[in-house]
Amino acid sequence: MVKQGIAISVSELTKKYREKEVLKSVNFTVPRGSIYALLGSNGAGKTTIVKILSTLLKPDSGSAAVNGFDVVSQEKLVRKCISLTGQFTAVDEVLTGRENLNLIGQLMRLSDVKSKTNEWLSFFDLQEASDRKVSTYSGGMKRRLDIAMSLMIDPEVLFLDEPTTGLDPQNRIAMWDLVKHLAMQGTTVFLTTQYLEEAEYLADNVAILHKGRILIEGTPQYLKEIRPQSGAYLNFKSEKDAAKAMKLLNENSIPVDAIELNLPSLEDVFLTLIDEKKEDTERV
Ligand SMILES: Nc1ncnc2c1ncn2[C@@H]1O[C@H](COP(=O)(O)OP(=O)(O)OP(=O)(O)O)[C@@H](O)[C@H]1O
Ligand SMILES: [Mg+2]
Repeated sequence: MVKQGIAISVSELTKKYREKEVLKSVNFTVPRGSIYALLGSNGAGKTTIVKILSTLLKPDSGSAAVNGFDVVSQEKLVRKCISLTGQFTAVDEVLTGRENLNLIGQLMRLSDVKSKTNEWLSFFDLQEASDRKVSTYSGGMKRRLDIAMSLMIDPEVLFLDEPTTGLDPQNRIAMWDLVKHLAMQGTTVFLTTQYLEEAEYLADNVAILHKGRILIEGTPQYLKEIRPQSGAYLNFKSEKDAAKAMKLLNENSIPVDAIELNLPSLEDVFLTLIDEKKEDTERV
């Protein structure tokens, strides 16, 4: 049965490379039209999950479905509704940027290859370089072209493996805007990242993956609220007031300019969780 509101569902997924357990019973679901960020350090298993969901790799056990289609038994149907920008660039260096986009458009049998090519060249600020060989592009330009290639079709589900690694702040923000825009139009976006602020800014839901396990999952707000160490910042009108307040806050009425509740950042949540995990493993 296809569940209406669910774009991706993953159940008890495991994967080993030789003896090494890379995914250990991973479970999550991604609502349709939402942005889901998988956050984790190097080697956590992010790319392995993306590869399984995009049918490039088979899991050892468990199941995963995209748009209601099983990634193993219905891989062709899955491929029809997804697009992937892998962690490492898939652009052809010998071709120009324009030729790369045209090629994808032709392979996908799109009717409006020319206009789509121009649209994405312009969006990613690549018009000037469009007729130069990709081997002459900077890393950021290649990355942008790579993402443009996966957007030539309008995928229902878009996988982006570390989409902003190697992009400068300006291009990173443009990418964030694009992801938000795509999700607003109904595309489900599944992305991996090592940048906590990226997950915090973009994602409706975040999962923290650590050594092949999801430690926690939820909205960025939820992840922050469940940590007990939230505190408050008090802004005083002068340093003198602040100094006095340290001693006298309880007994005296000290003028306070602003009181701001301060939740921990996702970075705090991430680092505390990983720390706790480390202690757990050390105890075993
Ligand atoms: N083909 C392979 N053969 C053996 N081990 C592999 C293979 N691919 C990945 N691994 C191992 O599996 C683990 C998870 O790798 P994966 O690429 O999924 O991590 P990641 O979270 O994407 O990391 P990164 O942030 O560095 O991209 C790592 O320890 C990696 O060395
Ligand atoms: Mg990776």
